[in-house]
Amino acid sequence: MAQQSDIHSQRLLIVDFGSQYTQLIARRVRECGVYCEIYPFDISAAAVNEFAPRGVILSGGPESVTGDETPRIDQSIFALNVPVLGICYGMQAMAQQFGGQVSGSDKREFGHARIQAESSSSFIETLLKVSEGYDVWMSHGDKVTELPPGFVCTASSGSAPIAAMENAEKRLFGVQFHPEVTHTKAGFELLSEFAHNICGCDGTWTAANIVEDAIARVREQVGSDKVVLGLSGGVDSSVVAALLARAIGPQLTCIFVDNGLLRKDEKGEVESAFNIAINDGDMPPLDILTIDAEEEFLGNLQGMDDPEAKRKVIGSTFIEVFDREAKRLEGVKWLAQGTIYPDVIESAASKYGKAHVIKSHHNVGGLPERMAMQLVEPLRELFKDEVRKIGLHLGLPESLIMRHPFPGPGLGVRILGQIQKDYADVLREADAIFIEELRRADLYRQVSQAFAVYLPVKSVGVVGDARRYEHVIALRAVETIDFMTARWAHLPYEFIEHVSNRIINEIAAVSRVVYDVSSKPPATIEWE
Ligand code: XMP
Repeated sequence: MAQQSDIHSQRLLIVDFGSQYTQLIARRVRECGVYCEIYPFDISAAAVNEFAPRGVILSGGPESVTGDETPRIDQSIFALNVPVLGICYGMQAMAQQFGGQVSGSDKREFGHARIQAESSSSFIETLLKVSEGYDVWMSHGDKVTELPPGFVCTASSGSAPIAAMENAEKRLFGVQFHPEVTHTKAGFELLSEFAHNICGCDGTWTAANIVEDAIARVREQVGSDKVVLGLSGGVDSSVVAALLARAIGPQLTCIFVDNGLLRKDEKGEVESAFNIAINDGDMPPLDILTIDAEEEFLGNLQGMDDPEAKRKVIGSTFIEVFDREAKRLEGVKWLAQGTIYPDVIESAASKYGKAHVIKSHHNVGGLPERMAMQLVEPLRELFKDEVRKIGLHLGLPESLIMRHPFPGPGLGVRILGQIQKDYADVLREADAIFIEELRRADLYRQVSQAFAVYLPVKSVGVVGDARRYEHVIALRAVETIDFMTARWAHLPYEFIEHVSNRIINEIAAVSRVVYDVSSKPPATIEWE
């Protein structure tokens, strides 16, 4: 067999100075077909050398290099003698460390700006490959006011006389604007120029290569052992299932736990998605074991109304049920999980301080310790958009791959307060109507997440001549990129009216429908 080339070998290092855009930089570089990893700015010299990147990108960050205690670029990075691109804070830190001047300012420049070329630079001229290429996105207070020796100014803007700089001989580049955000018209072209032409990376990071590489690695990792996977119907676990089916076929058993808090026909939807991949693609059949654990979950949740307590019970019951069922399978040594790269980065970043916990998200946390199994995590180095790409490549249908996210505790956090089976049944129907209508009106893909919420407060209504005194359904739809902030979706009134009519007319247990017009922050996306 031909030696498979290592698709990770031509790689870039992304050094994180705490910018909210750092992951975006890495995603854009990957979109160029180049592998990269993110490390915190205080990465050790040994780790830099071991990683051996072909180039380095320094992110922006919230600090000011004019302060004494603020992050600096480790000298080991420059000692690699590979190209370095500093973005915003990254450029300022580079300017200061090479002997230039950075001045602080109380006034932030935020938003669109137009730059102009200041001297010949094939790097900056890449921007001209796109019309309006000099339209960029700025977000900074400080700026470079004096170039370090050996650097030239390559672009300026109204408020930043040194908006880009470079030392072409040493292959050191700095841009004050943010090429990673799409508002910078030619940002992608600029990062691509850096990754391909300046750092000399080929475009080997493609869906086909990632799948081939992951399959080879899983085979090497588990050999002929058996593997168990919790299949939830979400994108990540489904893609792991499809990948493992290809890699190890009948050695894989998927456990699908019906906790009584799933959406309408969740299991059927997952099965039909896999049938498409099996029938239309070349995916081997999946062994899916369905566990009906509704009574156990609802029993454990009885009388509980605190959102965090409910989350914890749902999480621990899942672990109990899954562990019990997995133990019934003989000789299973590995637990597969759909951990993705942002989870890995976030847990690494926690050493440097973690954001306040608003909600304790549960997925399969705690399972590995309890089960004393070894972990297979084939998506560990992938961003969500890459997971989706390889899912499509593996033959899973778009309806599954582009599905809105669904929280681990499911309808458990969408039935406010105490949970009852009849509430969950009503909510499933209302939610299914909302989603069906969104798809029919071609609005499903325009919103990032949409769902119904069950409000167990009684409200009076009249249907026909009869008085109705029943509960309320709230509809929630949001638009967001990262789920950290979100805007309520401005769905057409006629559409909301139609969904509301259908819900009230078709579900006797609902007397009123309301639409949630709260953005995040201050509201969260889920109601609990
Ligand atoms: P919030 O409500 O925090 O939601 O604005 C942000 C995103 O996270 C999802 N979410 C969860 N996902 N377990 C999960 O796996 C949870 O406990 C959980 N709570 C919220 C939510 O659906 C949204 O996509």
